[in-house]
Amino acid sequence: MGVLMTPDFEQEKELENQYVMHTYGRKPVEFVEGHGMKLVDSEGKEYLDFLAGIAVLGVGHSHPKVVAAIQEQAGKLIHVSNYYYANGRGELAKKINDLMNVNIPEEQVFQTFFANSGAEANEGAIKLARRYADMVGKKDSKKIMYLNKSFHGRTLATLAATGQPAKQDIFRPLPDGFVAMERNDIDSFTSYVDSPDGADVCAVILEPIQGESGVWPCSAEFLQALREETQKRGILMILDEVQTGFFRCGTYPFCFQHAGIIPDIVTLAKSIASGIPMGAFVARKEVAQAMQPGDHGSTFGGNQLAITASLATIDAMIEENVGQNAEEVGTYLKAKLEGLPDVTEVRGMGLMLGVQFAHPIAVDVVMKGLDEGLVLNYTGEDTMRLLPPLICSKDDVDVLIEKLQEIIPQVLA
Ligand SMILES: Cc1ncc(COP(=O)(O)O)c(C=O)c1O
Repeated sequence: MGVLMTPDFEQEKELENQYVMHTYGRKPVEFVEGHGMKLVDSEGKEYLDFLAGIAVLGVGHSHPKVVAAIQEQAGKLIHVSNYYYANGRGELAKKINDLMNVNIPEEQVFQTFFANSGAEANEGAIKLARRYADMVGKKDSKKIMYLNKSFHGRTLATLAATGQPAKQDIFRPLPDGFVAMERNDIDSFTSYVDSPDGADVCAVILEPIQGESGVWPCSAEFLQALREETQKRGILMILDEVQTGFFRCGTYPFCFQHAGIIPDIVTLAKSIASGIPMGAFVARKEVAQAMQPGDHGSTFGGNQLAITASLATIDAMIEENVGQNAEEVGTYLKAKLEGLPDVTEVRGMGLMLGVQFAHPIAVDVVMKGLDEGLVLNYTGEDTMRLLPPLICSKDDVDVLIEKLQEIIPQVLA
């Protein structure tokens, strides 16, 4: 049986305009099919996708292994609730544990809570940090520090930890107990936590590379120093790997592993299940134990369909060695981007790259790119962000660069 669809794109636009809340500035395209790096719109036009559903389609659109797993599971059992065991949930958590243990100084046991999105994963991590403070007898230590320019989600607590005043101000009052600090400036952490006001900090939350604000990496030195200083003071380190996780940044499964540190809590979502909604927060067992039955929960989180999609996705990532590909093709892409007109800097790692233009042309480049069959993204008027599927090839990069070489001079003219 086919799915009932709105007959044409014009009608779809009218219906959305009338009945869907206007929270997104939509681009004038409706995609109806996707395979690997390619997307097809309702007119049959093909595109190369350098956004991957905002870092979601790690193994590309409609990967055959993921599709087969979802189809089979959907015909058998989709959801029963967290009151019961789900086949494969333990196996998935064990796989995540194994991936977390790559390239860290000392083996750990990591336990996972399954949620539905990145924001929920971060909410859960914040709650866990506060429960851990209770567990270790620091009941008054509930403050969380976060970085300026961060993005951790749209719920109220994650917004309170999002260092972008324009996003925060319209929703005040926000939950309290959140304090900003600077990226790559360890003194802005130590000076606060060592001041009288900072005695009640229980955790720090940060993205190893800030994605939504324009691809701003934390240096390995900063991450290492922050780990050392947090550890000394019994403060938890929460790494938000919602965007950077699952080989996005190259060889290792998670970005923090490039700095060789052991975080206390890591949050995940995006590419974890190829677009079937799933998020997760993962903690060292000692920390995870602070959560007791009844402390936290979710109706959908970690249901049978999501578990199956995630297992198939992670297996495909490992089988196809997407980390190695992200490293190699990412290096190639970065070098090519650096040679483009008007580009002053390319930031990021692997296949998470931010392109800085000298002029405010990012929106025009993205819109012209769409006309030319490229799915691109801007994070600001002078910054373009690329997050292609991790199966992106050098040939795909060559097509992108050839088109950008024509597009950039046109929008500058
Ligand atoms: C680093 C980071 N954390 C959290 C989120 C929020 O995730 P979600 O939109 O799934 O709630 C995002 C989304 O872009 C993100 O990039």
